[in-house]
Amino acid sequence: MERELERTKEKEPLAFFDSPRERLEWDISMRRRIMGPRVVKSDSIPWVTSSTDRLHKQFIWPPWQETQYKWPIRTMFAAEQVIPPRQTAALRHRHYNEAIFYVIEGKGHEIHDGIRYDWEAGDIYTIPVYADHQHLNDSDTQPARLFFSANSYIYTFAGMTHVDSLKLPRTPPDADPILGPGGETIGFRYKDGFELRFGLDPAWEARIRYATANPLCTTPAKTTYDHYVTRLKDEFEFTLKQPHVVKQRDVPWEDTRMGRIKFMVHPGRTTGMYLYDAFIQEIPPGSRSGKHRHLFEEIHLITEGKGYDIHDGARWEWEAEDVVCIPTGVVHQHFNADPRQPAKLVAFQSRLAMALGHGGIEHLEDCPEFPGGVP
Ligand SMILES: [Fe+2]
Ligand SMILES: [Fe+2]
Repeated sequence: MERELERTKEKEPLAFFDSPRERLEWDISMRRRIMGPRVVKSDSIPWVTSSTDRLHKQFIWPPWQETQYKWPIRTMFAAEQVIPPRQTAALRHRHYNEAIFYVIEGKGHEIHDGIRYDWEAGDIYTIPVYADHQHLNDSDTQPARLFFSANSYIYTFAGMTHVDSLKLPRTPPDADPILGPGGETIGFRYKDGFELRFGLDPAWEARIRYATANPLCTTPAKTTYDHYVTRLKDEFEFTLKQPHVVKQRDVPWEDTRMGRIKFMVHPGRTTGMYLYDAFIQEIPPGSRSGKHRHLFEEIHLITEGKGYDIHDGARWEWEAEDVVCIPTGVVHQHFNADPRQPAKLVAFQSRLAMALGHGGIEHLEDCPEFPGGVP
């Protein structure tokens, strides 16, 4: 009898986390956390030197700890980087996450998995997942300025954090070099015993060999399971075969309800991206964009002019070089406050919400120039 009672007790469901109140409180706390400041003023962000000795401005940077998160954007970080004349930005490296670059000034090229892609001011270039990549400034005299974003925070959340460290230019202050058989530096041993060894990830190298050489990947799929085996090759080829640079001069302006826009990267213009869209928008002097709302996140680099955004009724001032954050689900509209000069911005959008089935836009008001959009 006693055993019967105990068994009944064990079967009693525990009430945790599924009550309407707990769900609502969770939602409210998430909404509160995305209510951070919307404009990152360029002059408020200090220049810092990266591990490759290049200057960075970290506008939106992953803090790795939720409590330190300052900006209301979760799916993308954003930074500016300067490459001195005839230098490389980062040393050759790879990472699971994607990245996307807008060239503010200068000209240079990329080497991605051995393929060269040239870029110049106004272009956008993409780093697909785990591409072996390096950025180089081709000018003898001018620095190159790059605005970039990566979605590494999403990958961290998904348990995919790997970055290949292929080389570092100098020994960190709290480490000693590990020397290879020829006396070359092959890594660092930190004072606490932690070791960082350079090199390509052997597991990923094996994955590439498998995708390119194993007949299973090229044999037409007979079963549903086979579909996933051949997908390995398909994904690998997808990122290799797409153009990784979009020249601004090759993309037409579209006169849309939201304003005059060049859609540089989007699902209809493939660039090897899975989770990024990008566009350039121009707002005429004294005018405004359309007004809309969407569940995907958006960040803007203001490249010309000054003005302000209205987000859910609140006004946020911006000027050239600032970064504007548009969190998920916020009604927003952009205003050019200058009666003589146009304002220009480059926008990066996260496709994560789109991939989750929340990619649509609630269009709420047309811009004054193109009501209804021009066909
Ligand atoms: Fe990178
Ligand atoms: Fe938007």
